[in-house]
Amino acid sequence: MIRGHRSTPPGEHRPVLLEEVLAALKPRPGAVIADCTVGGAGHATELLRICGPQGKLIGLDLDSANLPRARERLAALELPFGLHHSNFAGLPAILAAENAPAVDALLADLGMSSMQVDDAGRGFSYVRDGPLDMRMDLTRGRTAAQLLMTLPQAELAQALHDFGDEPDAERIAAAIVSARGKQPMERTGDLVQVIRTATENAGPWRLHPKPGRWNLHPAARTFQALRILVNRELANLQHLLRVLPDCLRPGGRAAIISFHSGEDRLVKAAFRDGLRGGSYDEISADPVRASMAERNANPRARSAKLRWARRSPST
Ligand SMILES: C[S@@+](CC[C@H](N)C(=O)[O-])C[C@H]1O[C@@H](n2cnc3c(N)ncnc32)[C@H](O)[C@@H]1O
Repeated sequence: MIRGHRSTPPGEHRPVLLEEVLAALKPRPGAVIADCTVGGAGHATELLRICGPQGKLIGLDLDSANLPRARERLAALELPFGLHHSNFAGLPAILAAENAPAVDALLADLGMSSMQVDDAGRGFSYVRDGPLDMRMDLTRGRTAAQLLMTLPQAELAQALHDFGDEPDAERIAAAIVSARGKQPMERTGDLVQVIRTATENAGPWRLHPKPGRWNLHPAARTFQALRILVNRELANLQHLLRVLPDCLRPGGRAAIISFHSGEDRLVKAAFRDGLRGGSYDEISADPVRASMAERNANPRARSAKLRWARRSPST
């Protein structure tokens, strides 16, 4: 039986694709499991519960602000765990420090957590005004405001297209470049206003023609693209996918949840290449999607795609 409901605090969504993650990872008592994106510890709490006293959960997050809350939830179980403020691109070093160079199961639930979106001060939200920051790791890197002030228009349009699948990428990039020539764009509200004005007469693309598809806020795709750009999310994912087979014990299992076509393409290709090359002996044939009930209950689940792979037992 899956016990996710019990540990989901009131007012919060259950972890995305929880049953599907557990079915893919097949965690057992005594397992050592890495959660590369611990966030609010929704998945991690369930995984740690299953690892039990003989196992261990190793959690990572790029955003140190997520860790106290995650620590509190995990500590309540009184089971062994370790938490690290780290980019998952540095996973091998974290596993070495934990004396567990290879794990039985590994999860990466990509993107951002609800805590990050809900905190207007972080700049991830297009519905709450705040500083245009968007960095997950506040100790390094350039903010979204700094990037928007300097990126050439063509590069900006390309990023909106590649990382946001934004059909109005050129129009929005031109509007941003024109607006920044007048004054710096420092607030999320400033950017939303520019996008709204630029897309006001852009045609009916927001009225989604396909049944079962949902319309988006006009700034949603631009915000997603900027977040991916600011945090170098695709480069980090590529790095994780490269080191992943060596971080799994023979027969160990990995599950990755992505929310964007660019991420899913990388995961699909890496798992397929690993299968051909013999690092993996089994991979998911198709991405696993959330049930309609979960999609209706949690908008974030609508774009989630889960892929899994099993490390070859013999290599
Ligand atoms: C969707 S949330 C994870 C939610 C989590 N599974 C839960 O159940 O609460 C994604 C998390 O990944 C973190 N993250 C994003 N990129 C990362 C990276 N390169 N390394 C480590 N953590 C990262 C974000 O800070 C965020 O907290």
